[in-house]
Formats: sequence, C-alpha cells, structure tokens
Amino acid sequence: MKQLVFFNNKGGVGKTTFIQHLGYALERQGKKILFIDADPQCNLTAYICTDEQIDKFWLSKDSIYNVVQPIIVGTGDIDTKIVPYQVPGRNIWLLPGDVALGEFEQTLADSWINALAGREIGFRATSAIFRYINNWAVANGIDYVLLDIGPNLGALNRAILLGCDYFIIPLVPDLFSLRGLTNMGRTFVRWMNEWGGATSRFESKTFPVQNGRPAFAGYVTAHFNIYRKNPTKAWERWNAEIPSRIKRDVVDQLLKIDKNLVVPLNGGYSIGDMKNYHSLVPLSQDKLKPIFELTSKDGVVGGHVAYVEECNATYTEIAKKVCKKL
Ligand SMILES: Nc1ncnc2c1ncn2[C@@H]1O[C@H](COP(=O)(O)OP(=O)(O)O)[C@@H](O)[C@H]1O
Ligand SMILES: [Mg+2]
Repeated sequence: MKQLVFFNNKGGVGKTTFIQHLGYALERQGKKILFIDADPQCNLTAYICTDEQIDKFWLSKDSIYNVVQPIIVGTGDIDTKIVPYQVPGRNIWLLPGDVALGEFEQTLADSWINALAGREIGFRATSAIFRYINNWAVANGIDYVLLDIGPNLGALNRAILLGCDYFIIPLVPDLFSLRGLTNMGRTFVRWMNEWGGATSRFESKTFPVQNGRPAFAGYVTAHFNIYRKNPTKAWERWNAEIPSRIKRDVVDQLLKIDKNLVVPLNGGYSIGDMKNYHSLVPLSQDKLKPIFELTSKDGVVGGHVAYVEECNATYTEIAKKVCKKL
C-alpha cells in the first residue's frame, strides 16, 4: 500500500480533477484504490458521489471528520469503525470529506507543539488520519491511497503530508504557482526535519506514527487555465521556467536532506500535461465519472469523442508509470 498526496498552495489548478482521473485509471490497471478527501471544500467527494449520498454520509457520521472527532472533542482516539464508501461495482473506495474538518486544524496546531516536545498526546492527534488510513487500507488490500488536501500549508496538511510515501505537485504556468514552489520546498523540508527530531524524542511507541519522509514523485502542468489577460508570451515564459524552478526549489532542497526523497516517475520530473478538456469536465462532474469513461449515452458526440480517447491514453500512460515506479 502506497499513499500519494497532491499539493499546491494555489486552488483551481485542476488538482482534484487530476486525482479523480488518476484513481480511476489506476483501478483500470487492476489496483484497489482508496480516495481520502481531506479538503474541507469536499470537491473530490462531490466528483464521486451525489449530493444525496453526501448528505447521508454526514447524517450517519461516516466522514473523515467523524474519524477524528473523538480527538477534537477530547473523548478518545480515532473511530476505526467508520468504513469508507465503495463506488458500486468498482475497486474504488472513498473516505468522504467534510466541511467540518477545518475544526481539526486547531487541534493539530496544538498537537504539533506537544509532539515536538516528545509528548504522546501530540503524536496521537498528529498521527490520527495516518493511523486510520494505514489500518483500513492494509486490512482491505488497498494498493494506492490518493489524498486530496486544501491549498495551504496548515497543520492538517502537514500531518497528512508527513504520512504519505509520495507527493505530486499539480501546477499552472504562472507567477503564483512558481512563487509557491519556493515556499513549498522550504516548508516541506522544515516539517520533515522537525518531525524527525520529534519522533526521535518519542519514547513510548504504543501506536504507529508517520515516517515523515514523503518523496517527490513529480509535477503535472495544467494548460487549461490560461488567463485571459495573460498574453501568450508571459505564459510561455512561466512554462519554460517550471523545470528549473522545480529542480532548484523542490528537488535540490529535498536531496540536501536525503537522496531517497526524490523519485522521478518519468525520467524527468514532469509527469504529464493536463489538456483543456473544455465542457467534458463539467459533463464528467455531472456524470460522476472520469472523462475517459464518458460515452455517447452520456452525451459525448462529434469532436468530443477524440478528446475522450486522448484523455484515456494520457491517463492510462500515467497510471502505468505509477504502477511501475511507485
Ligand atoms: N483539464 C481540464 N480542462 C478544462 N477544465 C478543467 C480541467 N481540470 C479542471 N478544470 C476546471 O477547473 C476547475 C477547478 O479544477 P479542480 O480540479 O477543482 O482544481 P483544484 O482542485 O486545483 O482547485 C474545475 O471545476 C473545472 O471546471
Ligand atoms: Mg480541489
């Protein structure tokens, strides 16, 4: 079982769309997939389930929030009785997101200080989501856990990142994405160092905690988000700068602390380009399935058929690489 998290400081870069598609593409390669929606925006959940289903999860208390709720309110440890939702007929499960998950931020911020001091209470909360995933995914033979998180460097994302085996950066060629990389590289390295120090001071190991060594597996560039005001020249310039910025701000920073922290999926660090699939994206959101599973019954006709095929080829290739390398 491998855990993959996808991160960018900026929202709207096509991250959730990419994760949903990659998960389904990996399942088509014969893998068992568990999606974790740890973004309080819940976009991944809304891409897999109807609003009625989501409402049911919240009423029956089966979301990611309910897993950690006993820790937030101080009544106990994670609720391991919660079972992820299985997509009918598929080897795909989802731990549904929850708008209430934001409440866990403060608990985790306080726990971090306790963990750095080597106190067990800090480790219990910081490792909560990691322990739930580890427990359920291993017991149920999951091959890949794909985690969607919000676009910030907060305590929740820190706890999740440190529990993953790999991280992938979806980005768009613009000033903000590139500037974000500098910050991201520095912050991830600091978190790994701090966690390494904290775990070395943690004596009573009565439960597992994150290894804290997520390796960088590459980046994906989205080309659908070209701003109207942005002339093509500016876009080309940012696009051309991506490889050197990734190397300087992410790869080199990680290699300074550990040579195993970089796993190029694709020879280089670019995993692929997300094309502009135009109206097929809202159609796939509406049909709750990836673009490459849309058919004429879903309303795919004419020129869109070629886009569906292209999308299938793109994601099949990425999924095969993931299966081979990660
Ligand atoms: N490949 C794509 N082609 C066209 N539009 C896209 C594509 N990927 C995402 N979008 C659009 O951009 C919006 C934001 O995408 P999303 O995956 O939710 O980004 P993020 O998770 O980074 O915020 C989507 O609602 C969709 O309309
Ligand atoms: Mg998203």
